[in-house]
Amino acid sequence: MKKRKLNKKLVIIVSIILLVLIIEIVNPIKLYNKHLLKELKYNEQSINNILKNGLKDDVLDMEYSAALDEIFKSKDFKKDNFKIYKELKYQKLTDFTKQVNALISKGYNASDINNIIRNATDESLKAFLEKDYIKDVSEYLKFDFSILGNYDRYVEYQKENNIDKELVVVYVNIGLDRDFYTEPNKVTEFSFSMLVNKYNELDKDFVPEDLVNVSEDYAVDDKQKGNETMIRNFMKMSDDCKEAVGYKILVRSGYRDYKTQQDTYNLYLNTYGKKYAENYVAHPGFSEHQTGLAVDVKAESSNTFAGTKESKWLKENAYKYGFIFRYASDTEDITGIKYESWHYRYVGNEIAEYIHENDMTYDEYYIRFLNNK
Ligand code: DAL
Ligand code: ZN
Repeated sequence: MKKRKLNKKLVIIVSIILLVLIIEIVNPIKLYNKHLLKELKYNEQSINNILKNGLKDDVLDMEYSAALDEIFKSKDFKKDNFKIYKELKYQKLTDFTKQVNALISKGYNASDINNIIRNATDESLKAFLEKDYIKDVSEYLKFDFSILGNYDRYVEYQKENNIDKELVVVYVNIGLDRDFYTEPNKVTEFSFSMLVNKYNELDKDFVPEDLVNVSEDYAVDDKQKGNETMIRNFMKMSDDCKEAVGYKILVRSGYRDYKTQQDTYNLYLNTYGKKYAENYVAHPGFSEHQTGLAVDVKAESSNTFAGTKESKWLKENAYKYGFIFRYASDTEDITGIKYESWHYRYVGNEIAEYIHENDMTYDEYYIRFLNNK
């Protein structure tokens, strides 16, 4: 009898031990949490770290965060920084967690850090981390198009030009704090939205895609060329212009290769002098004409374009065909080119409509929306 009782007790104890062991090994709750985190797309290593640090509830309360995923994976993860980590947007930077920790220990909050890293490179961030804490850093870096590497230039430019911070950022990103042609970016890819100006240079050998000859019906001679899409839209625009005002518009000068641009510049230089040439003709490599997307327009009714019915119609309607008026008289400080009533640039309908409605230069548009550096 006594032995039986003892046996029963033993069975219960062994069963409990076994149950505890099974729960510990299989751990259905842990498995379930792992499953939830996996469903959110966290990687295995991050999940283990999230559970180990007891942060699963916080993480499961949020949407998937690429920044957290990266940070939890890292050996540099610091639990004390979790509150800030939660707010961060991931950026492709070497040792992301380490860099973020460094910014946190400098005193930056989550919002500042997001602004600092948004358009940072490894080099610009390294240089920035050598500076002391800057209280109002976000004033210049809060825009989608702010670039960390340009921070010092923003501060300098603002000192010399007392203008709105947003404009400071746009103008410095264009390059307006530097002399024309001094430190140009290289433009190598053809696209309808490419930017070529006094700060963005094409290679000598750059040739646009789909170059075609312009039919003599739409040009001043049989030598004019341009990108096929640009020319197709130009011809439609010319036909509609004729229908509206009785006259066509013609291509006076379309695609110009590097050498032709050089010759054009030299012709102006020798005929009108340096100042005039600098104001009206871009240096070779820096002209939109080399993209095959720009066109100098001639009115059918007159040799002077400004003031014609065609020029008035074109200014109001070009955007419907994907063209923008490029060099206005009140934007000479931004484009570096004097008013040219005849110069139009094909950028496609979407961009042309936006620019028409918002009345801005292409240089500004590009910096605000397309400059993903
Ligand atoms: N005339 C324009 C600015 C050019 O040379 O590209
Ligand atoms: Zn032109």
